[in-house]
Amino acid sequence: MEKTFQFSNMHHELMARDEAYIYGWRYEPRVIFESGRGIVLTDVDGKEYFDLTAGMMCMVLGHSHPELTEAIREQADKLVHTSSWYSNPWLIEFAELIAGTLPGDLKVVNFAVTGSEANEIAMRMALGVTGRYDIVSVIRGLHGGSLAAEAVTSVGGGRKAHLGPLMMPSHRNAIYAPLCYRCPVNLEYPGCNVACLDHSEELMEHITSRNLALIMAETIPVAGGMVVPPPEWLPRLRALADRWGALLMLDEAQLAPAKTGSIWAFEQYDVMPDIVSFGKGMTAGMGIAGTVTTQEIAEEARGKAGLPWGGTYSGDPLPAAVGLKQLQIVLRDRLAEQAVARGARLRAGLEAIARKYDVIGEVRGTGLYYLLDIVETPDSRRPDPAMAERIRYNALLEGLVTIAVKNFIRVCPALIITEAEIDETLHRLETAVQRSVEGFPRDLDYATSSSLAARPQVAAAT
Ligand SMILES: Cc1ncc(COP(=O)(O)O)c(C=O)c1O
Repeated sequence: MEKTFQFSNMHHELMARDEAYIYGWRYEPRVIFESGRGIVLTDVDGKEYFDLTAGMMCMVLGHSHPELTEAIREQADKLVHTSSWYSNPWLIEFAELIAGTLPGDLKVVNFAVTGSEANEIAMRMALGVTGRYDIVSVIRGLHGGSLAAEAVTSVGGGRKAHLGPLMMPSHRNAIYAPLCYRCPVNLEYPGCNVACLDHSEELMEHITSRNLALIMAETIPVAGGMVVPPPEWLPRLRALADRWGALLMLDEAQLAPAKTGSIWAFEQYDVMPDIVSFGKGMTAGMGIAGTVTTQEIAEEARGKAGLPWGGTYSGDPLPAAVGLKQLQIVLRDRLAEQAVARGARLRAGLEAIARKYDVIGEVRGTGLYYLLDIVETPDSRRPDPAMAERIRYNALLEGLVTIAVKNFIRVCPALIITEAEIDETLHRLETAVQRSVEGFPRDLDYATSSSLAARPQVAAAT
């Protein structure tokens, strides 16, 4: 049976004002939230929802964590912002702690405000160190929306429309993602021997100038379909970078800290990158991101390509103090281990739902970070973005906030989610999937809600 949202007049009025005055992407309906605690978000009518994406994958301790709230209060009373040409104790301690959690010689942090900016710093580092210009990234990768980061991003095809020469040549997206569910080279793992990388190298030989500065990859490409790579993929990518004399950068903006079961996802693979970027989950919702590299690379790049990079807000005391406190809590409370234990329960439940409903082609992910791949039929495995959007809408009706981008639905709650909340999530999600396969709601346009899903505007044929 069709179920509908009930909003107060005040809520409707806020939605209308949001639409009139704010230029942004919004899911339907435009629910307006006013508070959050743990994994619960509350809208302006007092209705509660579970936040299955921890905001934009940032709030690993959930909303309004008491210790973070206290840290914000204390820091606001002391020092919020300084010139980025001077430092502050919280930033120093945050950098030291980040370096302490990273393996090898990854010890120097260039702070930024967004993940896009952090990835552009990585590009500057590679150009500075190698004196070359070619950069290749992974097809299905997402590295941000600032222009150089957008150019190496391939999941948001429509986002690149009309940007013309502002984009670096798009052929830089040259490495096939090892998405075995839809193998880019039509083979089967493990018999394939990760042939997608051999094909990628061949592609690089044809389309680059063979002066490679950098290979960029998310450790697990998330927005492009939660592509958990087979164990040999990242070590082989490292070897490819070495063969071409390039640096290897791993983007952990979606993954660190602890969501995948280790503070940094790449720790689970036998790989050592030259540069790692972070954002989102390391920020506790504040504007602080960064790029970590070795002392040697940092010094070699100094004074080249605008490095070290510094902007108005890079390394401000308030976000640094909050990021520091959050990382201390993640380590103290062993949240990486907790992600593995609770994630196993979540995964088992999601897979049980997938077995019942053919529209869920595959559940992919690791730790406490999952994605549902929504398909037309299990045999065709053809993406069904309209069904994904329908499930997202029905999930919201059931009190679950999540995101659907293209045919992918994200299930990546804060790491503090309880077992009871996981069970309740699974129950509500199943109701949402059931109502979706029954065909409700009838009309929903998935392309109007997200920049990644948007269809490019194509000029009408004359
Ligand atoms: C892997 C990855 N890198 C970088 C970014 C960009 O981060 P920001 O939006 O903070 O610029 C994103 C954003 O979704 C991302 O998923």
